[in-house]
Order: sequence, then structure tokens, then C-alpha cells
Amino acid sequence: MSTTPLIIPLFGYETLAEKLQGKLGKAKIHQFPDGESLIQIDTPIEGAEVIFVCSLDQPNTKALPLFFAAKTARDLGASRIGLIAPYLAYMRQDKVFHPGEGITSRYFASLISEHFDWMQTVDPHLHRWHELSEIYKIPAQALHATRPIAEWISEHVDNPLLIGPDEESKQWVAEIATLAHCPYVVSTKIRESDSQVRVSLPEMTAYQDHQPVLVDDIISTGRTMMDAVKGLIGMGMKAPICIGVHALFVGDAYESLVSSGVSSVVTCNTVNHFSNAIDLSGLFG
Ligand code: R5P
Repeated sequence: MSTTPLIIPLFGYETLAEKLQGKLGKAKIHQFPDGESLIQIDTPIEGAEVIFVCSLDQPNTKALPLFFAAKTARDLGASRIGLIAPYLAYMRQDKVFHPGEGITSRYFASLISEHFDWMQTVDPHLHRWHELSEIYKIPAQALHATRPIAEWISEHVDNPLLIGPDEESKQWVAEIATLAHCPYVVSTKIRESDSQVRVSLPEMTAYQDHQPVLVDDIISTGRTMMDAVKGLIGMGMKAPICIGVHALFVGDAYESLVSSGVSSVVTCNTVNHFSNAIDLSGLFG
């Protein structure tokens, strides 16, 4: 049995996979004209530990090929199958918000747990769930982007003031502020719909000379960031820097955020995007 894990990137995560420790393997996903897909693992895997690497943004498109890849690896004799998913989807539906809904975070966790022996991810949206083990039946490790983000801030920003756009962000904003030795505040947010949010910033007269740095785990429609940016500019603060861990940026969210009065938009490389400036590959292993 081989002891060196075989790292197989899927869905364009070769660059991240190349930075991880192990032997790089290759798999092809063929898309048939009718929308079905076929996985072909090109590297011999008999007896090896196989680690698939891919983020799970756009999860509905990726989930089925990913599960087929895991099944294929199992059939080809992999001894263990791990998943490094720097962005883990479906974590925000963590309760029944409206009658008749399901808790999809739990359902998705059950599907992943069925196909993989272990998983690593970065800053999953743990809000009402406090630990991945509450919903994942396999060893599932949440790694944190806080230190690399704090290092980026220390290196690039003078006199920063960290701002969390909502209560959920307090967990990572407080930690980054400690590591970067700077103050932080947390706003409150009301989400009215998928694309409408209202962010209420706290009093910030004492921080007028600071460089505002908004930090959130996910930037999806960008509305959370944009409403916070609007509020900061309205208060006469400097143009803020926006840092997101996971660059989902649906539709024209990135362009809209960039033109909303920000100084810059920076993300971690958990989801491939040209705003990726903070490398988290050192976290995995
Ligand atoms: C949710 O609470 C998250 O922490 C983010 O604030 C949210 O996902 C951002 O979404 P959007 O960019 O669509 O406002």
C-alpha cells in the first residue's frame, strides 16, 4: 500500500493542489451532451489514500460529479478518500427560517459524509451550528483564515480599524484584530431578501483617522459589503478595504463592489477569483 497521498484536483483547483503535500494525480470529468457526466481517474490509485481538492461554490453543479469521483476512487481500490474543500457550501441554511423549509446544511453534510472518509475546509459558516461534528459524521476539520488575513493586514494597512458587517462576523473579526493588534467594531445586519440587506454601523467618531477594513467570511451578492461601504462613506470615513475569505461574487457583484467607493477588494484563495491575494494553501495537510 502506498503511503504518499494522491492529490486529485477537480473543477480547476490544480494551482492549490500543486502546493499541497502528496503526489499529484489527475481526473477528467467528461460532460455528455445530455448533461450527464463521467469521471475518469488517470492515475493508478490502488491502495492509495486519495484526496480530492476543490471548492464547493456552485455546489449543485459540482456535487454529483464529485460524489461520482469518490465512488470511482473507491471502486478503483483507494484505501481512504479525503476531501479538501476550501469553501464548503450549504452552511447558511442552518435552521428552518420559514415553514415548509428543510435544513439543507444537514442534508449536504450527510451526502458528503457518505462519500468521503474525512474533510477539511476553511471558515465554514458556523453560526447556529457551532461545530461541523454536529452535522458531519466523518472527521471534518474547520481551518481558519484569521492568521493569514491578520498578516496581510499588518503588512499592507496602516492604522487599521476592522469592521465586521454583522454579529456572525464577530468570531473572526475579533480574532484577526487580536492577531493584527488593532481595534475592531461589529455592525448589525438585517437581511430583507437574497439581495437586500441593511447594515447598521456603530458610532465611529473615535476612529476617523483609521483605515476601515471590512472583513466577512463570504462575499456573495456583495450587498452586505456594499451597504457597509455606503454607511462608512456617509460617516466621512476613509474609503474602506474589503476582505472576504470566500470570493463567491455572483453575477456582477465584484464589479459593483469595486465601483461602490472601496479602496480595494481582497480575498483568500479558497474560491478561484482574480481578487485572491491571501494564500491559504499552508493551512491544509
Ligand atoms: C452571512 O451572514 C455571511 O456571513 C455573509 O455576510 C453573507 O453571506 C454575504 O452575502 P452577500 O454578499 O450576498 O450580502
